[in-house]
Amino acid sequence: MHDIAVLGATGSIGGSTLDVIARHPGRFRATVLTAHRQVEALVDLCAKHRPELAVIADPALEGELARRLTAAGVRCEVASGHAALTAAASGQLCDTVVAAIVGAAGLESTLAAARAGKRLLLANKESIVMAGPLLLEAVATGKGALIPVDSEHNAIFQCLPGGRPELARSGVRRLVLTASGGPFRGRTRAELAGITPDQACKHPNWVMGRKISVDSATLMNKGLEVIEAHHLFAAPAEVIEVVVHPQSLIHSMVEYVDGSVLAQLGNPDMRTAIAHALAWPERIESGVPSLDLARCAPLQFEPPDLTTFRCLALAFQALRAGGDAPAILNAANEVAVEAFLGGALPFLSIADVVEAVLAELPAQAVVDVGTLCERDRMAREAARRVLRDAC
Ligand SMILES: NC(=O)c1ccc[n+]([C@@H]2O[C@H](COP(=O)([O-])OP(=O)(O)OC[C@H]3O[C@@H](n4cnc5c(N)ncnc54)[C@H](OP(=O)(O)O)[C@@H]3O)[C@@H](O)[C@H]2O)c1
Repeated sequence: MHDIAVLGATGSIGGSTLDVIARHPGRFRATVLTAHRQVEALVDLCAKHRPELAVIADPALEGELARRLTAAGVRCEVASGHAALTAAASGQLCDTVVAAIVGAAGLESTLAAARAGKRLLLANKESIVMAGPLLLEAVATGKGALIPVDSEHNAIFQCLPGGRPELARSGVRRLVLTASGGPFRGRTRAELAGITPDQACKHPNWVMGRKISVDSATLMNKGLEVIEAHHLFAAPAEVIEVVVHPQSLIHSMVEYVDGSVLAQLGNPDMRTAIAHALAWPERIESGVPSLDLARCAPLQFEPPDLTTFRCLALAFQALRAGGDAPAILNAANEVAVEAFLGGALPFLSIADVVEAVLAELPAQAVVDVGTLCERDRMAREAARRVLRDAC
């Protein structure tokens, strides 16, 4: 029996994870559930999954959470704040942590789980983008495991012998990350001028949280994934390629030196990757229907349009710059996406903000978490200044 902490339980990945867990009551137990501010949604999940601990990140909401849980007849411990999140991720109530908080807010708890030697199922890509070397070091120190949940990385993990081998020794020539192209594939810059947040969040194939949906629309999501693949698989930028595949049925591929290309296919439903990561190295039912290849649309492939979707090019630029440039890119992007979702920034200007902040803060070596968080803060401040100047 695995005891599982679902960090970000009220989100899209959190919901899919709990769906898979509920299908295997003899195998998994959700012992810790966390949310940021959605008290009601967290109470509903606690009533259904009966965890031992519920954590709300916003301390002002702890009292309300406790009252509502009591009113709903749910008996579990209640805690709040980011220290409580970190303690839950590293504590005795779980052996497995699903890191599904969105953004840099997930960094501390992800690192804590890694240091504590948990089986870390990583959806929170921003934490590995920001702190790749520190996170890998924490996993090595904790002697736990790091299993990618992001569908592309989970696909690559499945196509590599033994999950994370040294690429060169395994005869790997290329890692090919597939991208759906998002809701605006094929459009020109001029056609993207008046895009609204609701249009950007309407992804053609996947149902996801709003931040990652915007990232998918700008292709920053693919850029973050390129950096994530670099760290997870020790792959230099030169061997990572992005190909647009609008049907999202091939979730990524590995090409070997003999010309073989191994691909992982399936319906676009995150429960496949989550079930794989939860049960690895075994296989379990996920609730995802069979892929009916005879009925699906022809599979298309095309190169990404880096002129219209500049965020992907900026992510490659940050990866090549090295050091903390990916953390700077990520922080600037989070601020810009929030401004876009709040109606304060045009869609096309997200890339402008990221580019300006990368230029203002040249890469420095990643030393420790404290320094990294300070650089993250500086990048956010610089992004807000760029936003103010643009208005
Ligand atoms: N959705 C996907 O299909 C998908 C696929 C691959 C990777 N991912 C990655 O998985 C992560 C989660 O994505 P998502 O789509 O599930 O996001 P989401 O639906 O927006 O959910 C985010 C979760 O994080 C919590 N949260 C937000 N801000 C927080 C904070 N400051 N402190 C603590 N908790 C916080 C939210 O709580 P509240 O509900 O209370 O706000 C919610 O539980 C992201 O890093 C994303 O890139 C997602």
